Amino acid sequence: MSKFVGIVKLTHDPFEAAQNVVTQTFTAHGFEQVARLDDLPENVPVAVARSNGQQICLIRTGNGEVAAVGNLCTHQEFEMALGDTLGNGTIECAWHGARFDIRTGAVLQGPATDPLPVYDVLLRDGAVLVGPRKAP
Ligand code: FES
Repeated sequence: MSKFVGIVKLTHDPFEAAQNVVTQTFTAHGFEQVARLDDLPENVPVAVARSNGQQICLIRTGNGEVAAVGNLCTHQEFEMALGDTLGNGTIECAWHGARFDIRTGAVLQGPATDPLPVYDVLLRDGAVLVGPRKAP
């Protein structure tokens, strides 16, 4: 014989709790949201800042990925987000024309000689999260 016990109203949303766990996990590993994917036009560098003030340049590529590099050129610290992407995974500094690979940070053309720092990126539910610096 079954016993009717009434309708139980959940005061705890398991989906929201799972989302919080995921967010805390990303945060624990050094990731934080810096933009929404919808705010990034394709192949247009965009400057964002992390909560610690660190300047990052985001580049949304044509294949839906997002690259994150340091926003200061290693030549004379001009803002990389004021430069151009060349559509082939390259970003060019607007001041003296140094070019860098957006995936590795490698110098492709001087006068810069040091690579740009590159950061891990996660895309999650339309959010762009930037993580730790990748190993050079
Ligand atoms: S500051 Fe970027 S090339 Fe000189």
